[in-house]
Amino acid sequence: MRSLVLALVLLCSSAWVLAQSAQSIWGPATGRQVFSNPLLGLTPDELESFNRGRSLFRQVWVIAPSVMDADVDGLGPLYNRPACTSCHPVNSRGLAPESEQRMRAMLVRLSIPGENAHGGPLPHPAYGDQLNEEGIPGVAGEGRATLVWHEEAFQFPDGEQVALRRPEIKWQDMAYGSAEGILTSARVGPAVFGLGLLDAVSDQYLQDLAAQSASQGGAGRVNQVWSSKAQAPKVGRFGFKANTSTLREQIAAAFIGDMGITSSLHSERPCTSVQTACQQAVSGGEPELSDQQLDDLSFYLAHLAVPERRHPEHPQVQQGEQLFNALGCASCHRPQLHTGAQAPYPRLRNLAVPAYTDLLLHDMGEGLSDGRPDYQASAQQWRTAPLWGLGLAAQINATEQYLHDGRARSLTEAILWHGGEAQSAREAFVQLPPEHREALLAFLRSL
Ligand code: HEC
Ligand code: HEC
Repeated sequence: MRSLVLALVLLCSSAWVLAQSAQSIWGPATGRQVFSNPLLGLTPDELESFNRGRSLFRQVWVIAPSVMDADVDGLGPLYNRPACTSCHPVNSRGLAPESEQRMRAMLVRLSIPGENAHGGPLPHPAYGDQLNEEGIPGVAGEGRATLVWHEEAFQFPDGEQVALRRPEIKWQDMAYGSAEGILTSARVGPAVFGLGLLDAVSDQYLQDLAAQSASQGGAGRVNQVWSSKAQAPKVGRFGFKANTSTLREQIAAAFIGDMGITSSLHSERPCTSVQTACQQAVSGGEPELSDQQLDDLSFYLAHLAVPERRHPEHPQVQQGEQLFNALGCASCHRPQLHTGAQAPYPRLRNLAVPAYTDLLLHDMGEGLSDGRPDYQASAQQWRTAPLWGLGLAAQINATEQYLHDGRARSLTEAILWHGGEAQSAREAFVQLPPEHREALLAFLRSL
């Protein structure tokens, strides 16, 4: 009898282990919420944390002091938009504005030549390291950056024409003095699903990838960024230049940088020494974002499912996948990474991550240069963009835009902007017969 019980216990626990190791990362790929579904199998407690995090992500934060909304006050004194979803609409990517229109889901990073004490960008003395367009009453917003798009024509050998556009930043109403000569990097909000999986890939794994890439003649490298939590340099992985290290730190950086909301990781207000009204504004608490709120947001963003692929078995998609490998796209857009055994959330350990990125920095050539280094990322270096969910972004956003500043209006344009280390892959793409190009695009749209 005892051995039977023991056998049953063993059986159940091994089934449990199996269930754990088989955590599915996939979620449904239909409807408007494709990037907002929780991973399957969350416990009731976990779902509560997920839902609290979701509310905070969708919350429109208010100016302090607020009696009604004391938990969600503290917006500003300087900020870009009042909600995370302003720039990450339905957890998808934000769009760049048309010429001379206001930025709604985009921001401009700033710096001056040189490095700060931690090897990061050197903030502009008056404007800091990001243009905050808005201020609360009594505090002047920093000014406006608008884009002017310049078009140039490209023609494939078979005659197909494509117009490529490149943004130029124009300043308006700069409130704290001239911004001439300042280094800039305009970036749209990226999609935010699947980030727990990217967070769960170990630093060592990425360092090994970079070493392996170097030994095969590749040039992918990790960024080393300052971790405000560890108070030490760490491997970077989030942001378009892998300029923040962990999901939690990225969230805290977004709160302070984009919404002016302090947290235990960023207790200093976002005011430069010339911004006196900003320094004197009322605070919404010390810090304004509680650790519990940071925990819930981290849990939420870490446990968003990856939408399932559509028609991966379709012959055209399969042909496209072969071309993707043959052209060398997969050397940067790696079909698979693996999460570590020590990752912070147990559910996310030891999983395959089909994100089509290596999370490493690559020199993409002069065409994509922003002229602004970010820690060890040079002006021309960018983190390989994850390609999962690519085919759904167009559907959710109603308009297609790709790359860090949304300049590409089709997948073809996005590929044509590849240069530098990706120059040979781009050339190979240009030389493909039209039906092969179409197959490659069909594969990308199936992701
Ligand atoms: C004004 C627009 C804007 C707002 C508001 C905004 N973000 Fe972002 N978000 C961005 C941009 C742009 C990036 C890329 C940053 C970079 O490359 O440095 C980004 C990156 C991120 C990333 C990393 C994604 C990745 O794949 O690397 C996360 C996570 C994130 N934001 C969370 C948040 C949270 C949480 C909030 C609310 C507190 C928020 N964002 C508010 C524009 C915004
Ligand atoms: C040397 C590394 C490298 C190679 C090779 C490469 N890419 Fe990329 N890819 C990148 C980087 C880095 C970005 C992000 C650039 C940016 O945002 O400015 C990117 C962005 C993209 C994007 C836009 C994604 C988005 O979400 O906006 C697409 C699509 C893409 N690549 C497809 C391809 C295809 C197809 C190939 C092969 C023909 C390829 N790439 C080869 C590094 C590479």
